[in-house]
Amino acid sequence: MNSPLLDVRDLHVWFDLERGDRMHALRGVSFAVERGEGLGLVGGSGSGKTTAILALMGLLPPTATVSGEVLLEGENLLAHGEDSVRPHRWKDIAMVFQGAMNAFSPVATIGRQIAEPMLLHGTVTRKAAERRVGELLELVGIAPGRAGRYPHEFSGGMRQRAAIAMALACDPKILLADEPTTALDVIVQAQVLELIERLRHELGLAVVFVSHDLPVVAQVCDRIAVMRTGRIERLGAVEEVLT
Ligand SMILES: Nc1ncnc2c1ncn2[C@@H]1O[C@H](COP(=O)(O)OP(=O)(O)O)[C@@H](O)[C@H]1O
Ligand SMILES: [Mg+2]
Repeated sequence: MNSPLLDVRDLHVWFDLERGDRMHALRGVSFAVERGEGLGLVGGSGSGKTTAILALMGLLPPTATVSGEVLLEGENLLAHGEDSVRPHRWKDIAMVFQGAMNAFSPVATIGRQIAEPMLLHGTVTRKAAERRVGELLELVGIAPGRAGRYPHEFSGGMRQRAAIAMALACDPKILLADEPTTALDVIVQAQVLELIERLRHELGLAVVFVSHDLPVVAQVCDRIAVMRTGRIERLGAVEEVLT
């Protein structure tokens, strides 16, 4: 297998606005991610980071028009719309949404919320899902016994770990993490970065780490892409981009 794990070619996104206006949010973005690699996607607010990763997941709203190629192990996820991406979403390519740690429902246990997507897919029994939730929590450094706790009983850092656990439920090859450490204090941020590092090494997981914070990204990534107004302005090894 010589092709990269993920190869994004000339990705454009337009959003339909009111009164027939259109906004060209992503303007020809190209980058590749190798197996197990950490790629940082850095840029100011509104530069197109979230739009880019939602496009890779096929999760943009219906007002979006997308062009270009998203090749996952050579297969174009944009070829036939939803039909092309559905079999790979969460199974091969998964994401942690921006603000995910605050998106848990307050009325269900963390364990139930992590299990829900697995049960929805109908591929696992309740017992197997429970076991998998335990494994996933353990993987992200949370005692499996805490599956029965509610989100308010978790710290922000633990909720962020739980959100990462949820994304890993189907053993993806690549994880897209949108601002996973934003809003966490420095110590907890370091713990989440450490976790992502460990997952890369233990699972051979490729990670696209989205952030507006260059030093943070430099800690966990091999290469960095700097975005500005819908384009990648620079792309290179961490040391190269930092200087
Ligand atoms: N659903 C949408 N409809 C219209 N414009 C959008 C939508 N989502 C994002 N945008 C616009 O696209 C640009 C990029 O946004 P985004 O990808 O969220 O940036 P970032 O994640 O880098 O902060 C911004 O100008 C934003 O206002
Ligand atoms: Mg964003």
